[in-house]
Amino acid sequence: MATPSMTLFHSPASPFVRKVLVLLHETGQRERVQLEEVQLTPVSPSATLNAHNPAGKIPALRLADGNVLYDSRVILEYLDQQHVGEPLIPPCGAARWRRLTQAALADAILDAAVGMRYESFLRPEDKRWPQWLAAQAEKIERSLQQFEEQAIAELSSRFDIAAITLACALGYLDFRQPELDWRQRFPQLAAWFAEVSQRPSMQASEPPR
Ligand code: BEZ
Repeated sequence: MATPSMTLFHSPASPFVRKVLVLLHETGQRERVQLEEVQLTPVSPSATLNAHNPAGKIPALRLADGNVLYDSRVILEYLDQQHVGEPLIPPCGAARWRRLTQAALADAILDAAVGMRYESFLRPEDKRWPQWLAAQAEKIERSLQQFEEQAIAELSSRFDIAAITLACALGYLDFRQPELDWRQRFPQLAAWFAEVSQRPSMQASEPPR
């Protein structure tokens, strides 16, 4: 086994960390990275993490030379340039912008879902804002609709940056917002997700139950 040369600051529940882990598996680089778990919430930061990423967010990746990369999009781009296989982020042309835009939409689902989690779990009950929660759920709904109607063929063609990000977003919805019951309204996405969930990279990075 190769000695890990990089350190990934992580939490096993973070879907943004999961994106990085999936890409590491898919590109045969998992053994290059050791995991350092950090305990944090937006209101209880980790001093260790803050010393590496002043924004206090995971994932952060410390490289062999001590430099630290963040956020997940930057880390994915970096790691995708460190293997010899077919890139998972198209390097140029229309495909690059299309797939990065799809990945950004899947990241927006994640931002909304993580925000909902904080609002409904961390924020004191008397301060919660139902309209804000409803607006996040609508954002997720519109985004899933777009994937269902316009992207199934592309998603099925390659497990790349867009597919990885969406798979992690759907996994997170199942983990933290099962009440959204998205499969009922998006059957093609449900079938696609059932298939990609079998990939070793997805199985190895499942959030804790
Ligand atoms: C969660 O527990 O849902 C979570 C943890 C870390 C980052 C984002 C979400």
